[in-house]
Amino acid sequence: MSSGERDTLISAQENREMFDRIAKNYDVANRAISMGMDKGWRKKTIELLKPFRGGRYLDIGTGTGDLVFEIIDQSANVVIDGIDPAEQMLAIAKDKAEQRKLGDSVSFFMADALDLPMESDTYDGIVSGFCFRNIERRQKALEEMRRVLKPGGMLVILEATYPANALIRLGYKCYTPLVPIIGKCLGGGAAYKYLMDSIEDFPRPDTVTDMFSAAGFSGVQYKSMTFGTVCIFSGKK
Ligand SMILES: C[S@@+](CC[C@H](N)C(=O)[O-])C[C@H]1O[C@@H](n2cnc3c(N)ncnc32)[C@H](O)[C@@H]1O
Repeated sequence: MSSGERDTLISAQENREMFDRIAKNYDVANRAISMGMDKGWRKKTIELLKPFRGGRYLDIGTGTGDLVFEIIDQSANVVIDGIDPAEQMLAIAKDKAEQRKLGDSVSFFMADALDLPMESDTYDGIVSGFCFRNIERRQKALEEMRRVLKPGGMLVILEATYPANALIRLGYKCYTPLVPIIGKCLGGGAAYKYLMDSIEDFPRPDTVTDMFSAAGFSGVQYKSMTFGTVCIFSGKK
């Protein structure tokens, strides 16, 4: 796909190679850059999903699997698929699942949000954390997510957002140059520069909720956190 046709700053292939490169230190970098707040953001995301016993869930762009593990921490007897195109990120997710002895309740496998290899009406809920802004055609991805959700199922997307408030933006602008420095110490400086640039390039929250509605979701809303630097978007099929 040419740069004019896609929503993202870099191609899907560049994206996959980048995440494979930074996989080893991704969790440590995540914790450092978010100053430990990512755990709380994930917790809130899954609280909005409201997983129930016996439910079947999908985590899109699961990476190293932390949203999957949060679902398990919040609900017993669930079945979860975690998909991602980046093999090295998945390898870490699989190691973590093995350490937790999760058995067959969790499956991690390679797949792309734009072409989900599942039947329609499969999942009770879908989550996605810090992945949506990396997808080449976001509107198509939302339609694909809606397709594999059961009627009544919830989609909950956690994403980094560019703060609206001018004062907060000033603080944000002072902090962002530090992120590639942290990333560089962990072997991925350029990747972390892209990850910050892609936040500024990502649509504003109202545009994202319009995209949810255009894909056919109802009850669409967003919850802004940490001074507007992170949002949780949700909608129902
Ligand atoms: C910033 S990481 C987030 C990982 C994890 N969800 C978390 O909360 O830490 C973004 C992940 O999205 C994945 N990703 C990027 N494009 C994707 C696509 N088109 N379909 C599925 N996953 C994708 C990347 O490979 C990467 O593992």
